[in-house]
Amino acid sequence: MALIAMVSAKGSPGVTTTAVACTLTWGGRTVLAECDPSGGSILSGYLSSLEIPPIGLLPLAAAALRDQLADAFAHQLVDLDAKHRGRRLLLPGINDPVQAGTIRPTWEPLAVFLSELERGDDGYDVVADCGRLTTNAPPWPLLFRADLVLLVVRAATLRTIAPAAAAAELLRRELTQYGRGDGALALALIGDGPYRRRDIEQRLQLPTLMELPDDRRTAEVLSDGGGRLRGGQHLLRAAAGAEPAVREAITRRRAHLATTSSTGSSHVR
Ligand SMILES: Nc1ncnc2c1ncn2[C@@H]1O[C@H](COP(=O)(O)OP(=O)(O)OP(=O)(O)O)[C@@H](O)[C@H]1O
Ligand SMILES: [Mg+2]
Repeated sequence: MALIAMVSAKGSPGVTTTAVACTLTWGGRTVLAECDPSGGSILSGYLSSLEIPPIGLLPLAAAALRDQLADAFAHQLVDLDAKHRGRRLLLPGINDPVQAGTIRPTWEPLAVFLSELERGDDGYDVVADCGRLTTNAPPWPLLFRADLVLLVVRAATLRTIAPAAAAAELLRRELTQYGRGDGALALALIGDGPYRRRDIEQRLQLPTLMELPDDRRTAEVLSDGGGRLRGGQHLLRAAAGAEPAVREAITRRRAHLATTSSTGSSHVR
């Protein structure tokens, strides 16, 4: 599939939970990369019952400085699926926002590396949790190279919808300036509320590619760990059900980019 970046405006709408749900349910081999500059939360959340050595983005950034990112990558991963080893992997993020400056020069080489991970028979899709756009230094290189940028919005409250309008505008501007156009941008809507999908799309001027239900019980396990996944798991089923639309959007986008580059069109959507 490719590199899928998930990002929010502010207000914790559920980026990390959504990224975990997709990684645990999508059909292909998948790496979840925690690229939130304000710190990763999966080792202290979903995986909090495990003792995991300090691996992940920070040591990877040190290796990248020595030009050894590709060699070091496999040693910085946590296996999320005990039954199918190597199928669902996690690259843990930094554990302190003060480390954000240290990893900043790594975003570009990491973005190139992750966007090429799909190659080959044993390639991987990558879901990158890019955190909030309101952080000091969003990982722009990842957003620029992503095949799909999902702006995660909680549909229930105006508190997250309103700032998402500004975030959508910022993403549109930055992606267009970078030369990729804004065609990779779409919404992931979490829960439902007084605001209908069509109204949110109109307000943010973006299509919806994923809708996940409010499912507190499952979400709590994915975001905070501790419990066992039980019950209907509507959230996981919806995440799995969203995969075909995501794949289709990426295929369509790539075909469109291929056409526009072969016809020399400079206006990329
Ligand atoms: N689909 C959902 N249904 C119900 N609750 C959810 C859902 N998704 C996330 N949540 C809950 O919302 C809270 C925030 O989730 P999460 O940490 O994933 O947000 P985030 O956008 O990554 O936040 P931050 O920007 O702080 O990293 C958590 O308590 C989580 O359990
Ligand atoms: Mg998060």
